[in-house]
Formats: sequence, C-alpha cells, structure tokens
Amino acid sequence: MCGIVGYTGKNQATPILIDGLERLEYRGYDSSGIAVSNDSGIEIIKSKGRLFELKKLTNGTKPEGVTGIGHTRWATHGGPSDENSHPHYSRDKKFAVVHNGIIENYLELREFLSERGFTFRSETDTEIVSMLLEYYYGGDMLDAIIKLRNKIKGSYALGILHDGEGGAFYALRKDSPLVIGLGEGENFIASDIPAILPYTRKFIIPDEKEVAVITPEKVTVYNRNKETVEKKITVSDLSADAAEKDGFAHFMLKEIFEQPGAIKKTVHDRITPDGIKLDGVKLNGNDIRKIYMVACGSAYHAGAVGKYFIEKLARLEVETDLASEFRYRNPLLGSDCLTVIISQSGETADSLAALREAKRRGSRVLAVVNVVDSSIAREADDVLYTRAGPEIAVATTKGYTTQVAVLYLLGLKLAHDRGTVSADEYSSLLSELKRVPEKLGAFIDEINPQAQYLAGKYYPAQDAYFIGRGADWSAALEGALKLKEISYIHAEAYAAGELKHGTISLIEKNSLVLGIAAEPALREKTLSNIKEVRSRGAAVIGVTDSPDSIKAECDDMITLPQTHPALTPLFTAAALQLFAYYVAAARGGDIDKPRNLAKSVTVE
Ligand code: G6P
Repeated sequence: MCGIVGYTGKNQATPILIDGLERLEYRGYDSSGIAVSNDSGIEIIKSKGRLFELKKLTNGTKPEGVTGIGHTRWATHGGPSDENSHPHYSRDKKFAVVHNGIIENYLELREFLSERGFTFRSETDTEIVSMLLEYYYGGDMLDAIIKLRNKIKGSYALGILHDGEGGAFYALRKDSPLVIGLGEGENFIASDIPAILPYTRKFIIPDEKEVAVITPEKVTVYNRNKETVEKKITVSDLSADAAEKDGFAHFMLKEIFEQPGAIKKTVHDRITPDGIKLDGVKLNGNDIRKIYMVACGSAYHAGAVGKYFIEKLARLEVETDLASEFRYRNPLLGSDCLTVIISQSGETADSLAALREAKRRGSRVLAVVNVVDSSIAREADDVLYTRAGPEIAVATTKGYTTQVAVLYLLGLKLAHDRGTVSADEYSSLLSELKRVPEKLGAFIDEINPQAQYLAGKYYPAQDAYFIGRGADWSAALEGALKLKEISYIHAEAYAAGELKHGTISLIEKNSLVLGIAAEPALREKTLSNIKEVRSRGAAVIGVTDSPDSIKAECDDMITLPQTHPALTPLFTAAALQLFAYYVAAARGGDIDKPRNLAKSVTVE
C-alpha cells in the first residue's frame, strides 16, 4: 500500500529510484513521483497514472542529483491526481516527503497549520508532514523530526529530503514497513527488500518510531529517546532475480508454477523421521483450549482450510476471524488460547493490530508469515515462515498454498500431541504431504491447457458461483476471490447447502457455477446442490477427484489427482488460480496489478 524508496551515494539517484519503484509497483500504482536534491534545491517530478507516465516525464535521467526519494501510490486521502501524488513539498520547498500509511489526526493538524498561515496544494494527509517539518525546523533536522513524530498519530513510513543537507536524507517509521539497505559508499531505504536487492543484500530494519539519518557513508539510527542505537545487520538470501518474470507472461502465472517448489521448501525439512519439527517452536496441543485463526483476504481463506483440518484431526476448537473484525470485537481470549496470525506480507495493518490485541489479552501468538523479519514476524511470540519466496503479483497464489501447507503441519503436530490421530493416519498424511510438491507439479502441467480451454468457453460470464461443503467450501472462498479480483467478474462462494436459502434466486440460464465436490463424505450432498442449480439452467464446471460420480450433472470437469482427501484444497486452489488467470487474460485485464487493489494493505 504505497511503496517508498530512497537513495544517496555516488550515482545518479533518478534511475535507481525508478528501478526501485518498478519493483514496488505491486504496492500501489495509481500515481508516482520522485524528489531529487541538487545544487538548485529539491526538484520534484510526479504524475498521476502508472509508473511509465513518470518515466516519460523524467526521461529516465531527470532530475539530476545523487540523493533522492520516490513513491508509488495507492490513494487513500484524495483521489489519484498530479497534485495528490507524492513527494510533497513544504511551503518553502525546502523539504520533500514520501509517505506510506495514514496520518490519522491530519485534519486537526491541517487546521493547526492553516491557523499559522500554511496553505495546501493537495488533499492528502501526507502534505501536513512536509509543512510541519518547515514549521518545526530551527536548524536541527533531528529535532524537527522528533517534534513531528510527537505530533502525528497513525501509521507511517516516511522518507524525508531537506535542501542543503549534502547527501543526507531521513527516514522514520511506525506501523508501516521500511528497510534500510547498506551499500558501499551508498545507502538506500525501501518499503521492502526486493526493491533494492540488485544494489545490496545487507539490511537493517528500524524499530517503531526510530529515526534514521542516511548519508552515503553511514546510517545512524536514533531511538525514541534520541540515543543512537546499534542495529542488527541481516543479509538477505533472496536472489536478485526473484522479482523477474522468467519468460512467463505475468508474475501470477510464474508464481502459480512455482507452487510445488515453494511447498517443498515449506514442508520437507519440517517432516523428519522423528515427526514434525516446527523450527523450535514449543507447542503442545494438550495445553491449548482454543485456537483463533486471524487474517485478511486469502490468508483468511487459508485459515478456513486450517480450521476444518485441525478441528477434524486434532479435535480442538478453531475459530476463524477476519482481522478487521477480531481487533474490535472484544474477543474471549486467555492464556489457554493460541492465536494464529496468517499473513503473506507480515505487514497487513489489521492483522498486525489483531496480533497486538491478542497479546494484550494474554493469548500466545503464532505467526504464519512469508516475509522474513516483517512486523508480524517480529512481534509474534513464535513464527513459522512459509518460505514461498517473493510474491509479486497482487493476487496471491504461492503465498496462499504455502500458508495452507503450514497449517497442515500445525494440525498434524497438534493431533499427534493430543493422541487424536491414529499412527496409520498420521504417517499416511505425512507421507502424502511430502508427495504434494511432485503431484502438484504434474497436476499444474496437466490442468494448464484444460484451464485455458475452460476460460476460453466461460470468460464472457457475468457472474460465477463457487459452491462446496466442508474444506471444499473453504477452497471455494479462495477460488471466487481469485476470479473476481483479477477478471472483475462478480463471483461468490457459497456453502453448497446454503445456496437455496436465498442466493439460488440469482441462478438462471447460463449462470456459471463451479461445484467443488472433492470431500468424499460430502460428495453426494454437493451433487444434489449441483443438480439444483443445473435444473435452473446453470452451466456447471465440476471440480472433483472422482469424476465418474458427478460428471453426468456437469457441463465440464476439472479432475483433481488422487491424494489424501484432506489435502485436496491445495490442488483445487491451483486449478482455480489457473482458471481465474486465463479468464482474466481473455478479458484483457491487468493481471498482476488489478484495479483498486494493492498487495500489502498497511492501512485499516
Ligand atoms: C491484500 C492482498 C491479498 C491478501 C491480503 C492479506 O488484500 O491483495 O492477496 O490475501 O491483502 O495480505 P497478507 O499479506 O496479510 O497475507
């Protein structure tokens, strides 16, 4: 949700800033801009629209100078426009600011500044930051930034440029992600590590409310008490080309195909001859009374798969909750509860707030996170990484399936602790889980042309209904979200038995229904629901590992491979991702950057 980048060193800043912004575009892409300081002051170039609009204006080289900041925007306060694009100048143009987050008390501060003669060029919350810096500056930037920090409320990662500082720029963060990259005679800031991986692998992560002063030679970090602090340097092992498309038409397609490898990394060395090893996380299923799975978007859907699995296998009560609801609903938590926060980015504002709320109420918090050292990973009591590698497409694929894989491991471990799973079932699930990467790889290759064929047939659909029962319903939730977010077809997921309580009134001739009937014990029931919609004219794509049992009632089929029934949601997910991808491609959507969305949602 907005990407920020900053550079100071011996090279021209503009090409480095633009390159960094290109890698951050997944965070927001309705406008972009850069500010560079040089002998004539601070120069800003910014524009509404995609990054290529900015590239045209800068010609890849302008403004000249070796210190600068950049921004790619996902609008919150004020629509996408040239004026609302970042960076924002102060009144005297001596300061320029880029911001990711929301300054919650900006209206009050705008009034405060207006009373003191300041006027504003934009409708953003950010512009008050540059104006406040001008207001507070009395010769010492650090003091001005500390006064600013004491005044603003909300979430922020800020990059700040001040005229006449000879190569220095500043950064400050609270509840929004920011990394500082350390180079040789040059240093960087960015909203995430892959943005600056071509330049450095060494990073430090400022803590909440810390201020960093960045010059080409050094980075100095000050804590809340204005004392300098030693920061741990981490060396990223991500590969610099992890953010390249490798010949695939889109990152989403590449990431769908990367799933077998990502799941392999996630599960293999955690399944040992002595059972499941969860990276030293000490958990015993017998000490837990209740689990809350809390997340947003697809991560919430992964939690829904986990709920069915864990309840069934470990006989432990599991409640799934949307983080935006959980954080405000006074949840009944205590020390006998385990709160599992699931998040690909590890930065989602609502999930982070839910984590803090759970801790405040005495619950232990386990994070299931992809991005190493992200805020959620750092603040949780324990973390299990999903090891999916960088995910660039806004619509998650490998991020989601690796979350499901970790929840399977967790469920198996808890069931084993509690003695609720037989030795045979335990070892059969473990060995089948180990075989998932190989089977999934073969399945993706096999289903890819079929998904293209089905997309070619059904892409004009106006509405789609994904129905299923049990874990198939959880898979339906994710399938419908995938389709709607990238193809813009209205799609709904329904518990198959619930459809007739209202929504079936929408089914008419040629309505598209994806009937997921993989769970053996519920297949007959779902088949009845498929018959109900078909008799009202719907076109049905059946999704099952047992095609003979339902194909007579379906127009088309997606046949899943044979696996342990509990693991089919991973295969269903891959098939529905490919279907959504090819439908979106047929409709001409911007698949990796769908309208109105952002990958990392760091605002409420
Ligand atoms: C955004 C993304 C979704 C993602 C959700 C939660 O809405 O577009 O794909 O599932 O955020 O993100 P997280 O990083 O917490 O998993």
